[in-house]
Amino acid sequence: MVTITDLNKMKTRGEKFTALTAYDYSFAKIIESAGIEIILIGDSLGNVCQGHQTTIPVSIGDMVYHTASVSRGVKETFVIADMPFLSYGTTQNALKNSSKLMQNGAKMVKLEGGHWLSETVYQMSERGIPVCGHLGLTPQSVHKLGGYAIQGADSKAADKIFSDAMTLEQAGAQLLVVECIPSSLSKLITKKLQIPVIGIGAGPCTDAQILVLYDILGISGQIPRFARNFLLDNNSIISALKNYASAVRNSTFPTSEHFVE
Ligand code: KIV
Repeated sequence: MVTITDLNKMKTRGEKFTALTAYDYSFAKIIESAGIEIILIGDSLGNVCQGHQTTIPVSIGDMVYHTASVSRGVKETFVIADMPFLSYGTTQNALKNSSKLMQNGAKMVKLEGGHWLSETVYQMSERGIPVCGHLGLTPQSVHKLGGYAIQGADSKAADKIFSDAMTLEQAGAQLLVVECIPSSLSKLITKKLQIPVIGIGAGPCTDAQILVLYDILGISGQIPRFARNFLLDNNSIISALKNYASAVRNSTFPTSEHFVE
């Protein structure tokens, strides 16, 4: 079974690992058999399963349902569940809602945000709830950000993301996702943090990569710039997923068309 200890050792050895989203039992089984280390039950299910424009309508009940479905499909894979919009606005709510995800199979929960979350992350971590942070483009804040654009492009914004990353680690976060930030910034964060850093649209220098399953299978409509349709060059889903994992491990994905410097 993949544990956070294994992921830490991989970071120390400089071995890249792979993560992919899943939302149901059958895909979870295929992802596990492709040897992918992490499944994230992403609140992107709001977009790709429920057909919403944003992740904001996703509820804790939705996340519990999909976390339980995915968890029944895996034995080895490390399962992380997203906490949906405003389910962690206060520490009390975060403890109550994360415990529902943990009791339905999650081994860790992911929250979007920086400094303002440090007390919550500390309290969760102290109580045995492992936390993954999420910085950069945080889709639950899409209306505040004004769209799905690259974050941290100027030095003030980059400094803020860097300092948020340090704060989350100090508060007890054990993994960090960085989404749509310049490669130079994700490289710095990955070097300075002890915990593994997982990138999406953040360049090749993070410890791991994550993508949305439906993007790499080419079934989510328009594929984002940072993703690749791995099914195009493979004749089955399982070989597409294995190909994605090996492309991450041998650093042939992502390439320069998938990120900004
Ligand atoms: O919801 C999601 O799928 C995510 C990632 C792609 C990082 O948060």
